Amino acid sequence: MKVIVDSRQNIAEAAAQGYVSFIQNKPNAVLGLATGSTPEDLYAELIKLCNQGEVTFKDVTTFNLDEYCGLAPDHPQSYRYFMQDKLFDHIDINPRNTFVPDGFRTAEEDLVAYDRAIAEHGGIDLQLLGIGGNGHIAFNEPGTSFQSITHMVELTPETRQANSRFFNSIDEVPTHAICMGMRTIMNTQNIILMAIGKNKAEAIRNTVYGDIDPKCPASVLQLHPNVTIFVDHEAGSLL
Ligand code: F6R
Repeated sequence: MKVIVDSRQNIAEAAAQGYVSFIQNKPNAVLGLATGSTPEDLYAELIKLCNQGEVTFKDVTTFNLDEYCGLAPDHPQSYRYFMQDKLFDHIDINPRNTFVPDGFRTAEEDLVAYDRAIAEHGGIDLQLLGIGGNGHIAFNEPGTSFQSITHMVELTPETRQANSRFFNSIDEVPTHAICMGMRTIMNTQNIILMAIGKNKAEAIRNTVYGDIDPKCPASVLQLHPNVTIFVDHEAGSLL
C-alpha cells in the first residue's frame, strides 16, 4: 500500500493527475467510481482538466460502486443523479458507457448481471473508493464476507445516520442499497482510496495497520497489490 498524506486540495489534484496519466495510457480504461463527499473535489478537478483538453473520457467506461434501493435515477439523492451532477454531465463521456446499479432491480439475476457486465468490459482497471468511519467500502458494512459479489445490503444505523445529512430527515434515508461486493472490488487492477477528515482517522489506521478482518472491511485492501491511499492530514493523523 502506498499512502500519501497531504492537504485536501493537494490530494484531489494529485489523484486527478493520476487519472489523467492513467487514461492517457489506456484511453478506453474501465473506471470504478464512488459517490459521497470525498470524491467531489477530485471530480471537480477532472471536469476542469477535461475542459482544458488535458484528458478525454470519450472511450472510458465507468461502473459505480453502489446505489440506494428505491430511489429513481432523477431523485436528487440517488447516486445516479449525483454522478450526472458532479461528473458525467460536465465531461465528454458517452452516457451509454456509464453504469450505476439500478436501485429498483434487486433480483439475484440483476445483481449477478452487474458483475457480468464488469467482466464483459474486461474488468475494472482503476477503482476509486471512499471509506466509512466504520471501515466500510462501498456499502460493505463490517461483517461482510470478503467473498461477496454485487449484492443487496441493509444499511447500518450509523451509515444511515451519517448519510442523513443529505436528506431532510433520517426517515427518508433508504434502508437498503445495492453494492459491489468485496470480491468484485478486490478483483480490480488498481485501487485509489481517498479519505478526508478526523472521523476517518481510525478507519484509515485500521485499514493500513489493523488485522485483516471483516470487522474493518477496508483492511482486506492490505492483500491487494496496487492500492494508493490519499488522505488529508486529519484522516492520516493516526498513521
Ligand atoms: C459511496 C460509497 C461509500 C462512501 C463512504 C464515505 O459510493 O461507496 O462507501 O465512499 O460512505 O462517504 P463520504 O465520502 O461521504 O464520507
